Amino acid sequence: MRPETLNLLCNPYKGEPFIQVGETIQGVASKQTFSIREGIPVILAEEGLTGRNRQSKLIHDFFAFSYDAVVSLGDRIRLNSEHLVRQEYIAKLPIQPGEKVLETAAGTASNLFYLPEGVDYYGLDISFPMLKRARRKAQKAGRQIELIQADCAYIPFRDEAFEHVFHMGGLQFFQDPFKAVSEMARVAKPGSTIHILDEVSGAVPMLARMPAHKKYATDAESAVEGVKRLVPFSMQAAESKIIPNTDFYALTFTKPSLTAS
Ligand SMILES: C[S@@+](CC[C@H](N)C(=O)[O-])C[C@H]1O[C@@H](n2cnc3c(N)ncnc32)[C@H](O)[C@@H]1O
Repeated sequence: MRPETLNLLCNPYKGEPFIQVGETIQGVASKQTFSIREGIPVILAEEGLTGRNRQSKLIHDFFAFSYDAVVSLGDRIRLNSEHLVRQEYIAKLPIQPGEKVLETAAGTASNLFYLPEGVDYYGLDISFPMLKRARRKAQKAGRQIELIQADCAYIPFRDEAFEHVFHMGGLQFFQDPFKAVSEMARVAKPGSTIHILDEVSGAVPMLARMPAHKKYATDAESAVEGVKRLVPFSMQAAESKIIPNTDFYALTFTKPSLTAS
């Protein structure tokens, strides 16, 4: 972990800065302690490991070794459309070298390779084996990467830490997608646009699980409209649309710029 990363981190469970104590980081007031495992801070408490999160973590821990191979085979035989989405959407995000970028649920960080060289990339994921693969890939390619093991509903970064926040895949597996999206908004800089890409086929069951939003779970089109309900009311310009020729939708919204009072 780089020293500047410690300054960006914040205890999401207690809302306090951290200090590093050997191979751990500690909340300055509560002294809540998290380990740094093989250089990756593990900022996960019980609150982040309930229900679907625990299940999803177990599955990704177990399949991390074959994850990239399965996705790439799926791309080749057109069972999925990850490569197309990365090429047509992620590679076109207006991200410049030197800017701070957070990818939530980054997995093995495949998206890093569609971003310009020199971006200051942070990948957050609940699965340590997925992050280890991300690190290996980045090291092999000589790319800068900072990794954090955490739950998207408790993002361990300060408010407004990132010029860009984006997400691709897995939202439907989250225990609390509403809190995850509001956390993405919290850590994004004012004026920035947050991009959330996820499978259309997953949006229907995700909304069906939520009693207040069930009526959007009838078909793909209503579900893509319904996912706008994940966006906090204080955000602007929420839009959702299917990415052509793929099974993904893009949900975007802008965090309002600060206005002088
Ligand atoms: C479908 S993969 C997508 C990975 C990557 N974004 C990509 O485009 O290849 C979903 C990822 O979400 C992670 N995940 C699932 N639940 C999570 C949670 N609550 N918080 C953070 N990551 C989570 C999984 O460990 C997995 O790596």
